[in-house]
Amino acid sequence: MSGTEEEPVFKGAEQFFDDYYNTVRGYVRQEIIRLRLQPHLQDGQRALDFGGGDARDSIWVANNGVDVDYWDNFLEAQSRARRAVIKADGIGYIRLHDQDPTEDPTTTRYELIMLHGVIQYESPPKAEQILERLSKVSLQGALLSLATKNWAVVDSQEESPGVKVHTTKQNKTSRAYSAEYLTKWLGKVGFSVVDIRGVRCLSDDDERMLSEVPKEELDQIISEENYRTEHKDSLEIGQMLHVLAIKR
Ligand SMILES: C[S@@+](CC[C@H](N)C(=O)[O-])C[C@H]1O[C@@H](n2cnc3c(N)ncnc32)[C@H](O)[C@@H]1O
Repeated sequence: MSGTEEEPVFKGAEQFFDDYYNTVRGYVRQEIIRLRLQPHLQDGQRALDFGGGDARDSIWVANNGVDVDYWDNFLEAQSRARRAVIKADGIGYIRLHDQDPTEDPTTTRYELIMLHGVIQYESPPKAEQILERLSKVSLQGALLSLATKNWAVVDSQEESPGVKVHTTKQNKTSRAYSAEYLTKWLGKVGFSVVDIRGVRCLSDDDERMLSEVPKEELDQIISEENYRTEHKDSLEIGQMLHVLAIKR
């Protein structure tokens, strides 16, 4: 398959994502996931950022000494990633793929997989295929970092057990999964969940631009959010689920 997508779910939403990451709610999601992932990063580790968008996580892990392969099936995302990587200063090794590297399970084996904000935009069978292919390119003991919408905070009927359909703030159809469903699903394709938490427990409505918020207040927000994520009720109130799972 080539790098072109059939029907890009994110067409027209690029500006939305730029804006999103400049708001407190976007920043909270990014920072809490990074705080949880940071202790697992190692120099020379081989990572795959699947559905990497504008490559912000690729650039972040590369800056932490990780060798990262980036892939996104949306051409516009690939161009944005290329521009971001060229602009980024002092980064480690990032390989921008123009074909899905998981389609050839013989060539690459990863120690870290990032799948942040991707599977909720695919139908459950397609999302399961993605997880299965990611499992095949993961080394035994590899870490999967998966972030996706939390079923518990979505106010709609179940489409199937553990899955709800909803419309996102940018008017896209999206799925939300329960922690139990994700755990079972991942188990089936060869990953064991080691930790699963709710992320963005308090600031979902905080759409202030980062430039409007003093640094001390932002630090305080991150510290409170981090505390809530570590608390067991985060699964009921976090807007996103963040799963850490190990390849068996
Ligand atoms: C919400 S964005 C998240 C981007 C990035 N991971 C982040 O956390 O900032 C989702 C990205 O997943 C990509 N995507 C969705 N389905 C995909 C698939 N089947 N294969 C590759 N990329 C996909 C989209 O094109 C989009 O860029």
